[in-house]
Amino acid sequence: SVVRWAAAAPLMARGAGRKILIAHRGASAYAPENTLPAYRLAIEQGADFVEQDLQITRDGVLVCLHDVTLERTTDVARVFPDRARTESAGGTTIRRWPVVDFTLEEIQRLDAGSWFDERFRGTRIPSWQQAIDAIRGKAGLYPELKAPELYERHGFRMEELVWETLRRNRLHEPGADPKTPVILQSFSAEALKRMRALGCRLPMTMLVRRGEQRRWLTPEGLREIRSFATGIGPDKSLVREDPGVVARAHELGLTVTPYTFRSADPDGFPGVRAEMEHYLYELGVDALFTDNPDQFPRRA
Ligand code: G3P
Ligand code: CA
Repeated sequence: SVVRWAAAAPLMARGAGRKILIAHRGASAYAPENTLPAYRLAIEQGADFVEQDLQITRDGVLVCLHDVTLERTTDVARVFPDRARTESAGGTTIRRWPVVDFTLEEIQRLDAGSWFDERFRGTRIPSWQQAIDAIRGKAGLYPELKAPELYERHGFRMEELVWETLRRNRLHEPGADPKTPVILQSFSAEALKRMRALGCRLPMTMLVRRGEQRRWLTPEGLREIRSFATGIGPDKSLVREDPGVVARAHELGLTVTPYTFRSADPDGFPGVRAEMEHYLYELGVDALFTDNPDQFPRRA
């Protein structure tokens, strides 16, 4: 298992047992998620890694956005009112603007800041390349391959776009840029396996949502994950319900990185700092995703 831990570097690279802070969509409690201001603030607040959620534009460019559609975090409904797709749900009609219907140039006309706070009006959705340029040398990158199966239906291979981008930036090998470690993550085992098939040797975290614990967090499931990934990223409630999963994963050399810790919902703890303390130092997780990097409880 010592060898596996070594393979899981750079999580361990800055000292054995050092807890790792991942800024979830940037410092997203304080700035609009997945924008350069949120990424820059995360770095100022001491993040080891900055997370980006990845989507694909109509012209095949990776951009940073959590949702597969644009309406929650931009003014797309005002700028492109006629470009909605309608969906029926529970007797009501919903209008949605999928990322994949818009080119990068169109997407970068949108305001991705003022929904969060008027101070951020004019903030744009960054391409992944723009995010890399802003973060590189200052923190690690922790990209999530979102909805690869959806993009496949539109003729895009998200894994190939991620791999090409990593290669172009010379970030595709473990340790390629010691100041910019890279860890990949996805809820899709297939996506991570495809990255391996492309030759990617970077650390990878298999995300596990509620409802999937019987598939992935059993001893058999964890052994299967170990065949293609270096760690698990479970919903934090799964760790709280079943704290033994930390030891089971560690036994196999897998890192444990739960999501998501946020001041907006500290889940019964007095605050998000106390909640993070509990998971890091009592339950023994290695790292976590938080909207509040400034509240991360460092020890030594
Ligand atoms: O990627 C870890 C965590 O961010 C997963 O949830 O929905 O915020 O991407 P989500
Ligand atoms: Ca994510």
